[in-house]
Order: sequence, then structure tokens, then C-alpha cells
Amino acid sequence: MKKLLVTGGCGFIGSEFIRQQLAQYDDQAIVNLDCLTYAGNPENLAEVCDDPRYQFEHGDIADREHVERLFGEHQFDAVVNFAAESHVDRSLLNSGPFVRTNVCGTQVLLDVSRQAKIQRYVQVSTDEVYGSLGPTGFFTEETPLAPSSPYSASKAAADMLVHAYYHSIQFPALITRCSNNYGPYQFPEKLLPLFITNLLEDQSVPVYGTGANVRDWIHVSDHCRGINAALRLGRVGEVYNFGGRTEKTNLEITHLLLGLLEKPESLIRYVTDRPGHDLRYAIDCTKAERELGWKPEIGFDTGLTGTIDWYRRHGDWVEHVKSGEYRRYYAEQYGTRLA
Ligand code: NAD
Ligand code: TYD
Repeated sequence: MKKLLVTGGCGFIGSEFIRQQLAQYDDQAIVNLDCLTYAGNPENLAEVCDDPRYQFEHGDIADREHVERLFGEHQFDAVVNFAAESHVDRSLLNSGPFVRTNVCGTQVLLDVSRQAKIQRYVQVSTDEVYGSLGPTGFFTEETPLAPSSPYSASKAAADMLVHAYYHSIQFPALITRCSNNYGPYQFPEKLLPLFITNLLEDQSVPVYGTGANVRDWIHVSDHCRGINAALRLGRVGEVYNFGGRTEKTNLEITHLLLGLLEKPESLIRYVTDRPGHDLRYAIDCTKAERELGWKPEIGFDTGLTGTIDWYRRHGDWVEHVKSGEYRRYYAEQYGTRLA
């Protein structure tokens, strides 16, 4: 695989994937198509931006003309689609951008990739498309889709389009579905980076409802190794689930963070629950282990300590992201409007 199109590579997971690919494969060229929403930050790729194998393309996956032009300029072997609106709470306030990027953007990528006869297409999806579990059981690749937020509904719609392209016209696509990621460079709106950055500044942390909801946590680096394995070894038409085998309630996570950062319990602030809040996510990833030879390697304690340490050492990054300073700079550079 000589040339990859990665979309959404300036976000949290896409940027980790690009760093990993360039470190692991000497002959890997990557074009990163990203329209730089509030969550996309080129600073996340500062360490590779001068690498001649890496090219940034500022653009929107839902802009067919732009995507077609890009495919005219490059012969891609494969596409890995990370680009998305990714935050559940935002989708509850305004689902329009979620449908536009996650559904319509995916459709454009599928169509143009099909015309270009690419060898492989990987759709990076989420366990949230399966809906919510009760107190027991696990999501497998056979679990029916039952999304419950506008975010997960838009991701499920995209997954169904991808599956339909494979089923009807043998388009060489596969889907990965992963549980909650954590690690460096995550925008501080999701639970872990929000709570870590708040606590580092002695600010309170807003726990939704009673904090009893359960998520399975996986380090972003383990997730990206899984996507790489699916890209290179996975069977087209298949779905692969990835998870960290680390289930925690939100309150457990909160207490862990308070302990590690030596902060008082008085910083916990119980707030109104998220509407339609999924109770529990848990992943059965034995298929990925069996077929791809993949397994999560970073234990939660080690991963969490490293992540806290990263946010502590990258106060500048947090400051830039929170103030939107980098966004004004890039808006000027790329002549774009801030979303
Ligand atoms: P993110 O919000 O950090 O980054 C999304 C990136 O996509 C940003 O760089 C943004 O600028 C870009 N983007 C958004 N709309 C675009 C468009 N129309 N055209 C081009 N670029 C666009 O998201 P993330 O957490 O890195 O998630 C990446 C992917 O992984 C998403 O598809 C998400 O659904 C999936 N996923 C995330 C998690 C998680 O825990 N974060 C878990 C499982 C799956
Ligand atoms: P989040 O990081 O938004 O991921 P997702 O909703 O996609 O799983 O939230 C993780 C869990 O943390 C979820 O149960 C909601 C909860 N949560 C809070 O309690 N407070 C917060 O401020 C946030 C952002 C999330």
C-alpha cells in the first residue's frame, strides 16, 4: 500500500493513525483531507508536517468536486475515513452537521473511491451504533444496529451505506467499530480530556446523572493498530470490533482521576443527565484477535497515567485549543470561515 487517503487526520484518532503509519512504514505516503472543524487541529501533526511523505489537503469530504479533484491528482491505494462530527452532546443540540459529514460525506467518499477503483476502503465507526447494553453482555459484530443519539444514528447510516456498496457492487470496504478512546491530543470536550484539564486547573467536573453509566476504554494507539491490521489483513465486507476490555463507570473514572491528581471530592459536580444517555457499552473483540492477530496492549492504569502526564506537559496545546487561537490562524491561512 503506497498511498493512503486519510480523512479527518487532524482530529484525535486520525492524527495518531498518521503518526503511527509514517513511523512504521518507510514507503507509506499519506494525503490527509480535513476541513478543520473546531476538533481538527494541524498542531496535532506538527511532528510529521515536514515529512515529504505527508501532505495536508484542506477540504470537506462532503464536497464532491473537491474530492474528485483530489482523486484526479493522486492514485490512492486505499481510503481510511476518520472524518466525522464525533460528540454526542453536540449532536443533541444540532444534528445537521452530523448528517452532512457523517452520512453525506461518507457517500461522496464511497462514490468517488468506487470510480477510482481503489483497492480498499476502511470506515472508522463506533460501538455506539449498537445502542445500549443492560448490566450484562457484550456487543459482537452480529449485534443489530440500534443507535440512540443523532451522532450514533448518523454513524450507523454511514455503516449501512458502506455495507450496501459492498453487498451490491462488491466495493472493497470494511468497517471497524471501537469503544471509547483516550490518549493525547483529544479535544477537551469528551469525558477524559475535559475532566483532566479541568482538574489540572482546580475546576469542577460535571458528572451526568449519578455517574453510573459504563464505558469500555481503549488507548488510541491500540485502536489505531487495530485499524491498521484491518486495513492490511481484514476481509472486505466484514466488520471488526475493537475494545480495551476495561469497563468503568463514569464515577469510577472520576474517582481515579481525583486520586491520581490529588484533588478533593468537592470538585465533583453532579449535573442533569444527558437525554437518552446510553447505560453501558462493552465490546467482544475476539474476532479481531482471532482474524487480525490484534489485541489491546496498553493497560488502563499505564495509559491513564501517561495521558494525564501528556496533558500536564502540553498546557500550550490545551490553551490554544480552548481559546480557539489556532483556529483563527488557520482560518486566515486557508481562507476559510470558522464553523
Ligand atoms: P475528532 O472530532 O477528534 O476529529 C474529527 C476530525 O474530522 C477533525 O479533524 C475534523 O476537522 C474532521 N472533519 C469533520 N468534518 C469533516 C468534513 N466534512 N470533511 C473533512 N474533515 C472533517 O474525532 P475522533 O475522536 O478523532 O474520531 C475519529 C473517528 O473515529 C470518527 O469517525 C468517530 O466516529 C470514530 N470513533 C471515535 C471514538 C472516540 O472515542 N473518539 C470511538 C470510536 C470511533
Ligand atoms: P463522552 O466522552 O462524551 O463519550 P460518549 O458519550 O461518546 O461515550 O462521554 C463518556 C461518558 O461520560 C458518557 O457516559 C457521558 C459522560 N460524561 C459526563 O458524565 N460528563 C461530561 O462532561 C461528559 C463530556 C461526559
